Amino acid sequence: MSGAFPILSAAEAAELIDHGMLVAMSGFTPAGAAKAVPRAIADRAKILHEAGQPFRIRVLTGASTGKSLDDALAEADAVSWRAPYQSSRPLRQRINKGEVEFVDMHLSHLPQSVLFGHFGDIDVAVIEATDVTEDGKVYLSTSVGASPTFLMKAKKVIIELNRGQSKEIGKMADVVVPDTPPHRKSLALDHPLQRIGTRYAQVDPSKIVGIVENDQPDELGGFTASDELSSAIAGYVVQFLTEELAAGRIPKEFLPMQSGVGNVANAVTEGIGASTEIPDFYMYTEVLQPAPFRLLKSGRMKGASSCGLTLLPEQIQEISEDIEFYRDRIVLRPQEISNNPAIVRQLGIIAMNTALEVDFYGHVNSTHVCGQNIMNGIGGSGDFARNAYLSIFVCPSTAKDGKISTIVPMCSHVDHNEHSVEVIVTEQGLADLRGVAPAQRARLIIDNCAHPMYRDMLHRYIEKCKPGHIYHDLERCFDMHRNLMRHGDMLAGETSSVA
Ligand code: COA
Repeated sequence: MSGAFPILSAAEAAELIDHGMLVAMSGFTPAGAAKAVPRAIADRAKILHEAGQPFRIRVLTGASTGKSLDDALAEADAVSWRAPYQSSRPLRQRINKGEVEFVDMHLSHLPQSVLFGHFGDIDVAVIEATDVTEDGKVYLSTSVGASPTFLMKAKKVIIELNRGQSKEIGKMADVVVPDTPPHRKSLALDHPLQRIGTRYAQVDPSKIVGIVENDQPDELGGFTASDELSSAIAGYVVQFLTEELAAGRIPKEFLPMQSGVGNVANAVTEGIGASTEIPDFYMYTEVLQPAPFRLLKSGRMKGASSCGLTLLPEQIQEISEDIEFYRDRIVLRPQEISNNPAIVRQLGIIAMNTALEVDFYGHVNSTHVCGQNIMNGIGGSGDFARNAYLSIFVCPSTAKDGKISTIVPMCSHVDHNEHSVEVIVTEQGLADLRGVAPAQRARLIIDNCAHPMYRDMLHRYIEKCKPGHIYHDLERCFDMHRNLMRHGDMLAGETSSVA
């Protein structure tokens, strides 16, 4: 129902947004992202810019979003500041040119940072929903993200009522907004599918300034099918988990899995699903991607707790059509619960995330190419990796047709340090770093994970280092990156000091 609130066109809603405002929008991946209003804000920005007037806003969301939000606003030069995560090519370009300020954050931290007032007041929240009641119950759509907190803290609220999304999906949410300390209560969540909250987010109805009706589906980008490389990575992960089960280091009923974003993680989950040796399992994760969803359907996965349904339109349709099956198998949670460090530790999550580069000692760079240009952001990888029962990082051993080795002497940027990384897997093999000291780690990672064409070069780096607890030579540790920047290839140019 929405009769109690004024119906606005997207353009009318955009008129309520002024230059310099902090605007919080729904969206955790393209799932549940606001669409009509941000597009209209982008149009407004273009008109104002043509008239010589300034118009740039500060934008908060749950995580990445769809084309109508980040792409449209970036292309209209309508964003001055952005947090906590993005995966938009046009926005990334502007961030890396220094035109947009970007704050990369652990996703579990975002709602509480808003609650604590770290970003100042939220002027307007734009939230996609499937329904809203007169007394302010907001049924969210395909993601929960940080929307419950945005609704709580924003001065004004615009609801994008998406008639194309099933109201039944809106009821998959389990909303809890933890109080601020010292009044915060512990979270009694002992099973991935346990419900501890409400199916709706609450807003003070007097803050709702308008409803914008919409029926656009989520704007999910394509996933590449698994290939030889990702199948090889999946094979090593499956073998490792099977051996851990056999050794009794993973309990025989198995443990809930988390799987990171991206093509490699999607393919690895597919591989785990295909294994006959790993028992049926649950996921406690932040995004439910297409491959794990297929496992839910086949029964290999018994249920999933997630923050969003990052699914293909036909998969969303399937949930609506077979809601009896999915209702008890999916719980959508706010990101501070889906990624909550205490719950990740309590449930004993097996975390699997993707790295851009890994160094000899197990430090992982998930975000910045050559320590400089952001790819997407840390996302939830740190929330899970730091607190997991087992923390696995996967990546191909090379990038850009072999011109880049993802195994390097020293990461050019560190998102996850050696203390949060236990297992590294590439298509070349697996390095189990548990209980392994630095010098031995280096050999293990080079021999098992690096591409053969880089192994000699990497070994020679170590051999020429002065011994220490950690072997490094600060004059040579970035030579491979320097080669890449100067010659477009880590193997090319003046490799002498490394090789
Ligand atoms: N240096 C430069 N570029 C690199 C690189 C490196 N060391 N490693 C990978 N890349 C490039 C690839 O070439 C590719 O480029 P393209 O888009 O131009 O083709 C791009 O990075 C993505 O790599 P891909 O192999 O397709 O991996 P992916 O889709 O699995 O994404 C991450 C990998 C790391 C970018 C992605 O997982 C990510 O953003 N992670 C951080 C957030 C996160 O882990 N969230 C999960 C929490 S649940």
